[in-house]
Amino acid sequence: MADLATERSNLTGAAPILVASNRGPVSFTAEDDGSLTLRRGGGGLVSGLSAIDDPSAVWVCAALSEADRTAARRSPEGRLDLGGFEVGGQAVRMLDIDPGTFARAYNGVANSTLWFVHHLLYETPVAPVFDDRFRREWDSYRAYNTAFAEALAAEAAPGAAVLIQDYHLSLAPDQLRQLRPDLKIGHFSHTPWAPPEYYRMLPDDVAADVLTGILGADRAAFLTRRWALAFADCCEAVLGATVDRAALTVTHAGRTTRLGVHALGADADFLRERSHQPDVDARLATLKEAVGERRTIVRVDRTELSKNIVRGLLAYRHLLRSRPEWLDRVVHIAFAYPSRHDLPEYREYTAAVQRIAQEINDEFGTPAWQPLILHVNDDFPRSLAAYRLADVALVNPIRDGMNLVAKEVPVVSDAGCALVLSREAGAYAELADDAITVNPYDVIETAEALHRALTMPTAERTDRTKRLAAASTALPPQQWFLDQLTALRE
Ligand code: G6P
Repeated sequence: MADLATERSNLTGAAPILVASNRGPVSFTAEDDGSLTLRRGGGGLVSGLSAIDDPSAVWVCAALSEADRTAARRSPEGRLDLGGFEVGGQAVRMLDIDPGTFARAYNGVANSTLWFVHHLLYETPVAPVFDDRFRREWDSYRAYNTAFAEALAAEAAPGAAVLIQDYHLSLAPDQLRQLRPDLKIGHFSHTPWAPPEYYRMLPDDVAADVLTGILGADRAAFLTRRWALAFADCCEAVLGATVDRAALTVTHAGRTTRLGVHALGADADFLRERSHQPDVDARLATLKEAVGERRTIVRVDRTELSKNIVRGLLAYRHLLRSRPEWLDRVVHIAFAYPSRHDLPEYREYTAAVQRIAQEINDEFGTPAWQPLILHVNDDFPRSLAAYRLADVALVNPIRDGMNLVAKEVPVVSDAGCALVLSREAGAYAELADDAITVNPYDVIETAEALHRALTMPTAERTDRTKRLAAASTALPPQQWFLDQLTALRE
């Protein structure tokens, strides 16, 4: 059987299960001697995908860098596994999309437009502006989606199940259906979905195309019911689609798409094991030395506009100003690792985070106490060490599809941890009862929540952490993925 399966995986047009996402499971860096070094990425999707035990499954992704492109070009049809790369027994087709087309699709439409719409990030008096430049970007986005649809159509066995991920690929489900009506197509949104009034900022044809693109799937799934219903509201408002909110279906142009809700959870086994490796222990020791006997408030994010890091720092400043009893008794550990630095808004945001952090240390710091430890580089073991140490975790996004940090900290924390959580994070739906919840725009309320969290009695904190950890791990990544596959095939 295994041999037959391996033989089948050497063919295109033979995959019974396919996944498509912009960022794939591996990336490459070019060495000085021209060789390529392969790195395996982490994250929920990668660990979810390890649930597929079918070696003839194929993952289609985009080349994100020049080194990725080189690897894709050295492989037949971009199939890295057939190009001699060790991708962990998995078949990966990496698409070498023209760099200009890719940049316009990824930066221009996906990250600067759709991401901004779904996270409500625009400063509306000045943005967005949908002009000629946007139209070029939109054409590129369509071409980028077509490249995925064509690759999936080429790799899929008759009747195969295809799981297309996220806002980068909102047109691909319908495009793929046109090419291969025999397939079972699923789409998953890892982001929130905008309410209709905000969504309708998009040009009318674009707003309609994104929705009909996703409705090309048999099933469109979301992280929470709230985002699924927002999508349905947009279909109703923009397309005039018929929505059944109880049954979670959308009917448009004679076809019915089922909506699904799958609340991705933390990977407890992985986290517990990884967070007790020697590299994490070493970083924990360093952090403990810096913190001393003081309490800790921890946050870990991508440097991402929607994560609301600036207001989080302002809330911490307000806490220190309004409750001087915390002076020299608390340290805020804020890790914000780099993200999407091709976009000027993200570079400016990182600078703003650094500036306010400096102001806080200047205002309150003493020779013996650094009130805020900020790092803006990536160090996964250091993040896990901070999770273990946290007395309080601050997760205050403006809006977030789920937010896995909120789910990971309770699982990893050594001595229990109070969670301050934005009501606009997807995780709120499952964690609200045992978190201290906040309106992310209200820095005074957030400061008070930090105070409540810091003063929570130990027994209560322990109990809440246990319940938070249980809720956070209810749907681990592998089960999350398998549930979608089962539901799609029903
Ligand atoms: C979000 C998106 C993912 C994306 C990730 C990192 O979680 O939902 O699709 O991969 O951010 O963003 P990046 O642009 O670096 O892939």
